[in-house]
Amino acid sequence: MSHPIISDLNRRYTAKSYDAEKRISQDDMAIIKQAIRLSASSINSQPWKFVIIESNEAKARFHNTFANKHQFNQPHAKAASHTILLAYDPMFTKEKFAKRVDAEVTSGHLPAEMYDMFMGAYAFAEANTDETGFNGHWTKAQVYIALGNLLHTLARLGIDSTPMEGVDAELIGKEFKDELDGHVCEVALAMGYHKDGEDYNHGLPKARLAMDDVITTL
Ligand SMILES: Cc1cc2nc3c(=O)[nH]c(=O)nc-3n(C[C@H](O)[C@H](O)[C@H](O)COP(=O)(O)O)c2cc1C
Repeated sequence: MSHPIISDLNRRYTAKSYDAEKRISQDDMAIIKQAIRLSASSINSQPWKFVIIESNEAKARFHNTFANKHQFNQPHAKAASHTILLAYDPMFTKEKFAKRVDAEVTSGHLPAEMYDMFMGAYAFAEANTDETGFNGHWTKAQVYIALGNLLHTLARLGIDSTPMEGVDAELIGKEFKDELDGHVCEVALAMGYHKDGEDYNHGLPKARLAMDDVITTL
């Protein structure tokens, strides 16, 4: 199959070594930021925060969060052009949802008289909230939609990336406490350009299950 979408998705891969000299342009960063912002989420909850590690100072702080574990990902902290910390809100309240519904109305997407009806959609969040107010399983699922959207966006832009669950949520939580504002980061995405000749994962064929194993058409 030779559709551009399929070529992009075949070409994208998980980079294992970055060229620290190569930077993502600010034009591409602007596209990436808009793509994140435009990600879909259940009931348009957008229960997330994205912290972009761009400066050398921020990279050093991120590098420090690998002190205890997942050191195999640590080189990306400094060598990748940028890393995005994708964080979910573990306590997504009705008050926070109201801010999204406000945006529904001000954007012109939702007629003002339908405000209360849209607020009723918070039932989806409630159904995923425990007695302590925790709904992180549900909000984390929304964050992964943004991750998938980002992976495809980067594929189209020809920018390499590394999704990383191999990050230390606890240390990231401490180091970036102010920026995360109560959100939890359990996955990050390093982005940039692979180092020629040093990235063992570059140029290999895709390893995926057969179509029939994963897709059933009825
Ligand atoms: C949610 C998620 C977490 C991942 N965590 C890591 C990681 O911590 N380090 C790493 O090198 N690769 C990580 N990967 C990369 C996967 O191993 C990789 O996507 C998979 O083997 C498919 O290969 P491809 O991305 O090259 O197509 C992760 C991928 C995803 C989607």
